[in-house]
Amino acid sequence: MHVLVTGAAGFIGSGVSRRLLERGDRVIGVDNMNDYYEVSLKEARLGKLTPHENFEFVKADISDRSAMEELFEKGKFDRVVNLAAQAGVRYSIENPHSYIESNIVGFINILEGCRHHNVEHLVYASSSSVYGANETMPFSVHDNVDHPLSLYAASKKANELMAHTYSHLYRLPTTGLRFFTVYGPWGRPDMALFLFTDAILKGKPIKVFNYGKHRRDFTYIDDIVEGVIRTLDHVARPNPDWSGLKPDPGSSRAPWRVYNIGNSNPVELMDYIGALERELGRTAEKEMLPLQPGDVPDTYADVEQLKEDVAYQPSTTVDEGVRRFVRWYREYYGIAE
Ligand SMILES: NC(=O)c1ccc[n+]([C@@H]2O[C@H](COP(=O)([O-])OP(=O)(O)OC[C@H]3O[C@@H](n4cnc5c(N)ncnc54)[C@H](O)[C@@H]3O)[C@@H](O)[C@H]2O)c1
Repeated sequence: MHVLVTGAAGFIGSGVSRRLLERGDRVIGVDNMNDYYEVSLKEARLGKLTPHENFEFVKADISDRSAMEELFEKGKFDRVVNLAAQAGVRYSIENPHSYIESNIVGFINILEGCRHHNVEHLVYASSSSVYGANETMPFSVHDNVDHPLSLYAASKKANELMAHTYSHLYRLPTTGLRFFTVYGPWGRPDMALFLFTDAILKGKPIKVFNYGKHRRDFTYIDDIVEGVIRTLDHVARPNPDWSGLKPDPGSSRAPWRVYNIGNSNPVELMDYIGALERELGRTAEKEMLPLQPGDVPDTYADVEQLKEDVAYQPSTTVDEGVRRFVRWYREYYGIAE
């Protein structure tokens, strides 16, 4: 297959691209290489992909309409994985406009490209943050998600709605994946595990929000990549049982689906920190702080639908995942044991 992966220099995008190349697909990777976090890490991730003969990198911004039109015109993609986005809940409070540019304007350009060039399947990143004020656990795709608590969450929910209109109007098969806190080697420097590791190794205090009482469904990168590939191969189809009289929020009479993709085993933030302390052989100095604006206290994925449709089975425990992250971190930054 010929696959367009946007956000290919990103944490998840580079992992997905690598797996697609390993199994023999051709990949065009797009990324604007923005400096939201260290660009050198994005370059290093790309550096692992570029030697592959079936990989081509295009530096472009998905919010650039003419660049995207040209890309789709030339590319003739069979399938598209849209992972490019302005990520992060907290940053959406500081810089709301970048979320509209990348996540809304960018996404319409991707939808238009797929529509005009007969793409067989669009898989795109949504987020567990769409659950917002929902408190029924585990979070289910069959529950409504109409109460986002951050602009980031609203932009992801908007993507699901925009995709639905294209699936309905143009029969474009689309699948939205609600990722639950992804972590692991080659991860994101703005996320907790990275920040904690950096601070602990420098002997600085770590900021523990919600006094450590968060429960997060931390999901290891390899389990996420596996789920993305499986869904990409499973083209969204209409649900024949869907009824407008009792509309199921997780499916449609259009070829449109959304899935949770998480470990389905929430872990308390203090236990996550404990696993990191054991791995680093150091105890963190902790600054206990209240819940941050925009954050949700707990996340927990119901992944039954993904299990049923693509036999998704996450298998990496937090202890194992944190161990692999720390091994990678030490090697990447050249920090001795
Ligand atoms: N990592 C998580 O825990 C998590 C959780 C929920 C959802 N997500 C979503 O998954 C996707 C991938 O996340 P990630 O963790 O790999 O983040 P990431 O920031 O590492 O990757 C995103 C990549 O997209 C690129 N990008 C951003 N805006 C762009 C634009 N306008 N045009 C072109 N490229 C652009 C960035 O340079 C970056 O390399 C995102 O859509 C994110 O919102 C991630």
